[in-house]
Amino acid sequence: MGNNFAKRIYAQISAIGGYVPENKRTNQDLEKITDTSDEWIVKRTGIKERRILEDGLATSDMAVRAIQNLVDTYQKKLCDIDALIVATSTPDMLMPATANIICEKLGIDNVWAFDMNAACSGFLYALDMGASLVESNRYKNVLVIGADKISAYVDINDRSTNILFGDGAGVVWLEPTKEEGILDALLQSNGSGKDFLNIEAGGSLYPASADLPIDEKHYIKQDGRIVFKNAIQAMSETCLNVLKQNDFSIEQVDWLIPHQANKRIIDAVGNEIGIEEGKTLVNIEHYGNTIAATIPLCMWENVSKFKKGDLLMLTAFGAGFSWGASLLRWSI
Ligand code: ACO
Repeated sequence: MGNNFAKRIYAQISAIGGYVPENKRTNQDLEKITDTSDEWIVKRTGIKERRILEDGLATSDMAVRAIQNLVDTYQKKLCDIDALIVATSTPDMLMPATANIICEKLGIDNVWAFDMNAACSGFLYALDMGASLVESNRYKNVLVIGADKISAYVDINDRSTNILFGDGAGVVWLEPTKEEGILDALLQSNGSGKDFLNIEAGGSLYPASADLPIDEKHYIKQDGRIVFKNAIQAMSETCLNVLKQNDFSIEQVDWLIPHQANKRIIDAVGNEIGIEEGKTLVNIEHYGNTIAATIPLCMWENVSKFKKGDLLMLTAFGAGFSWGASLLRWSI
């Protein structure tokens, strides 16, 4: 009698891609529009510039360019894709799903494709979903995309939000491995943040109406201080909990890739969880908060630093509130 226990199938990231628009919106640009200063923005957020997608293009266009970058870099074949998940809060349209539009633009069909909205936590939610599909053994090649054209919802005259947000897209390709890959995720949500971070109009509660002033509910609105405090507490706790439930210590983490919302939030989380200096990856300076794209973009930019087998911890917090942390072994 042999040992019949099959080894666990893991999902691994086997390729990664990204895209940011060329057009920059700098702090100096914002100084000309609202009562703010480069000094204040850098000190309070760590952001110097963001990328803004041109009018006439949408979230799907950035996602397609990120996928094209992945395919070109890693010689992947689009026809191999079995499923495609798009984490976004800024779909091209309410229907059809942006994932469907991406398939059309890529010229692929027979792909199970859908959108997922968990705001800034969207990529972590979609990554766990994608990993589960691969682990189920029913899907072999799954694309997980984080993409947002949040500039379409930013009131350029509102200095509490125009300083924070930019556009971008990142993508990972998941496939099965018998080595370790995506290890675990702890994802959480509650509705307590509904009134503190939202875009109210455009859904079924406030549908399009000539009576609804454009500046009232169509833009992203937030209570920055409440979001700030909740973000630090939720991300720190989840990171420590996901480490504990996998018997890892913080010293074993090689890289922390946090959602890029504010450099002060990132620093505070790092302090709370006690991660060694230099292990936290940050690119907020150049892109600001790109919502679901921050984490894949940050991994994509830092890919040359990762060694196969490195332990990565990803963490995010966003509207909902929704939040979470994931652990994975780098597999490329
Ligand atoms: N330029 C200059 N001064 C400003 C600006 C600005 N852009 N914004 C606010 N101020 C002023 C305020 O009026 C206030 O002045 P006062 O002291 O005279 O009253 C002072 O600066 C401090 O204001 P705060 O709102 O307390 O500033 P804070 O340090 O909290 O920074 C910020 C504001 C950057 C918005 C911060 O609260 C933050 O980053 N919060 C988290 C936001 C976030 O991450 N949102 C996205 C979450 S993810 C998602 O799902 C979308």
